Amino acid sequence: MAGALREAIVDWYGVAARDLPWRRAGVGAWGVLVSEIMLQQTPVARVLPVWEDWMERWPTPAALADEPPGEAVRHWGRLGYPRRALNLHACARAITDDHDGKVPSTYDELRRLPGIGDYTAAAVASFAYGGSHAVLDTNVRRVLARAVRGEEFPPKATTAAERTLAESLIPEVDAPRWAVAVMELGALVCTARAPRCADCPVAGECAWRLAGRPAYDGPARRG
Ligand code: ADE
Repeated sequence: MAGALREAIVDWYGVAARDLPWRRAGVGAWGVLVSEIMLQQTPVARVLPVWEDWMERWPTPAALADEPPGEAVRHWGRLGYPRRALNLHACARAITDDHDGKVPSTYDELRRLPGIGDYTAAAVASFAYGGSHAVLDTNVRRVLARAVRGEEFPPKATTAAERTLAESLIPEVDAPRWAVAVMELGALVCTARAPRCADCPVAGECAWRLAGRPAYDGPARRG
């Protein structure tokens, strides 16, 4: 069951995924880290030009660390939540000072960088370094809530049960591809509102759909 679900989603990703620059081969961990911080509260379309400009201007953590923090904020553009620019700048300095200018590769080291939470540490360890981690963003949590648990929305805050489920689904081979595939399904098909079940590769085995798509009746509806 889990294997079939994974395989269908990974196969779908192979044909339906967006070609996003931070997913391309050879981007490097710094590009992945910058993208994940930018994407936290901002849609992909707005992130794209700012990420391109940022990576051209500061292709390494050391290049950004050489600048005053205000420059990071100035080039943050209209992404919103500019504290993230200061966090990225602080990250660049910590990486330069404590990690020889190389983005660390383990979850624990990443987690200790300024402004890096569980999601970002797992995403960078997985996407940039191939690590096996449960990468639990809102999109992934919603797909798992629906497909496996039969609920329209995940709980408000991540629970131990969600983490256990996500960890049980990590494949032995190519964990990052599974992580990005299930994230993409949530972003493009299994959307918070008006999900496109007709286009879903796992519609036939989705617990929520099989139950008739019951409406969420929890405390706070969330995306
Ligand atoms: N690819 C990798 N991480 C992503 C994210 N957070 N949002 C969209 N696409 C991604």
